Amino acid sequence: MKKLQIIALIFSILFAIIIVQSCKSTSNITESKFGAQLWGENCIRCHNTPSPETFSDTEWDVAVMHMRVRANLTESEAVKIADFLKTAN
Ligand code: HEC
Repeated sequence: MKKLQIIALIFSILFAIIIVQSCKSTSNITESKFGAQLWGENCIRCHNTPSPETFSDTEWDVAVMHMRVRANLTESEAVKIADFLKTAN
């Protein structure tokens, strides 16, 4: 009976670790999304996405700063989107 309890305890600890790990990897997936993907997912919600060639690097900096507020993006998401737009213009 004691042995069974220990085994049950080990399994519940392992289970808790797995749950914590899976939460961590979910946030890593969001963090590791590419600028192009974030752009495609976020910038079409309110209007057609202007193509990257539409603006210069400086103009994209301003536009993304403005849209970061509208689209409710984190700083790292906004930086990735701006980097993508600047490499594709
Ligand atoms: C919550 C809605 C919303 C989201 C999401 C959004 N925009 Fe906008 N966007 C607007 C609105 C409204 C305007 C009109 C100008 C203003 O904001 O006053 C606009 C204007 C623009 C303009 C200027 C258009 C022009 O022709 O001068 C650009 C560029 C732009 N958005 C890019 C983006 C990019 C890039 C993203 C993704 C990061 C994005 N937008 C996400 C609402 C949004």
